[in-house]
Amino acid sequence: MSKKIAITGKGGSGKTMLTTVMTKLLANKKDIKLLAIDADSAVNLPYALGIETKRTVAEIRQQIIEDPEARAEIKDKNIRIVMEESLETGNGFHLLVMGRPEGPGCYCSVNDLLRYGIENLSQQFDITLIDCEAGPEQVNRRVVKGIDVLLIVTEPTTRGARVADSILGVIQRDESIRPAEMGLVINRFKGDDKLIMESADKWRLDIFGRIPEDQNITDYDASGRPIFDLPDIAPSVVAVAETLTKLGLY
Ligand SMILES: Nc1ncnc2c1ncn2[C@@H]1O[C@H](COP(=O)(O)OP(=O)(O)OP(=O)(O)O)[C@@H](O)[C@H]1O
Ligand SMILES: [Mg+2]
Repeated sequence: MSKKIAITGKGGSGKTMLTTVMTKLLANKKDIKLLAIDADSAVNLPYALGIETKRTVAEIRQQIIEDPEARAEIKDKNIRIVMEESLETGNGFHLLVMGRPEGPGCYCSVNDLLRYGIENLSQQFDITLIDCEAGPEQVNRRVVKGIDVLLIVTEPTTRGARVADSILGVIQRDESIRPAEMGLVINRFKGDDKLIMESADKWRLDIFGRIPEDQNITDYDASGRPIFDLPDIAPSVVAVAETLTKLGLY
C-alpha cells in the first residue's frame, strides 16, 4: 500500500489539527510506515506534533543556491538522498517540512522540490499525509497532483463552503489532479451542517467526518502542549478515528 492523502481547506479551518490527530492515531499502528508532510510555508505542523525541525526543504534549496560545498555534496549524493536525510523522526512516523523560502522571490522552486519530495519519498511509505497551505493554490499548482485522497476541511459556515467550492472548482477543471477519493471533513461541528451539505450534494462529495469543537484542543493550545499528546478519549480524537475508519485506514 502507498496512499497519499492531502488535507486542504480555508485558513484556520483545522487542517493542521486534522493532520496531527490522523498522524497520532496512525503512528500507533506499528505495521504502517507513515510520513507526515508540512507543505505550509507557515510551519505549524512540527509544533502540533511536538517535533523539532532540523532542516526544511526551503533550507535545502537555499543551501543549493548559496553554498558551493553544499551544492557539490548534493550533486554527489543526489537530491533524493538529501531529502531522505532531512526527514525528522517522530514516535511511529517521519516528518518532512517545507519551510519558508528566504528573501524575496517566488515559491515555485520550493513547490517543485516539495512535489519531488512528495512523489519520491511517499513511495517508501504506506501512508503520506500532506498538511497543505490554506486555499486552492497548492491544488492549483499541482503540488498535490497524483494523490489518492483529498480531504477538504471546512467549518459549517458560508465562507467555509465557498472555499471548499473554489478548491473543487480547480479540481473540476484539471483531470490530472483528480484524486480517487475526495470528501469533506466538517470541523467545529455544532449539529447543523445544512450549508455544507448543499455543497456536498452539488459536488457529489462524501462527508468523511464531523469533528466537534473540543475544549481539550483549546486547553492544549493555551498551554503550548502539542495536540499530538491529546488523550485518545478526547472528542476530536474519537471523531478523527471515525474518519480514518471511513477511509479504510483504521
Ligand atoms: N475542533 C476544534 N476544537 C477546538 N479548537 C480547534 C479545533 N480545530 C482546530 N482548533 C484550533 O483552531 C486553530 C486553527 O486550527 P489549525 O491550525 O488546525 O487550522 P489550519 O487550517 O491548519 O490553519 P492555517 O490555515 O493557519 O494553517 C488552532 O489553534 C487549533 O488548535
Ligand atoms: Mg495549518
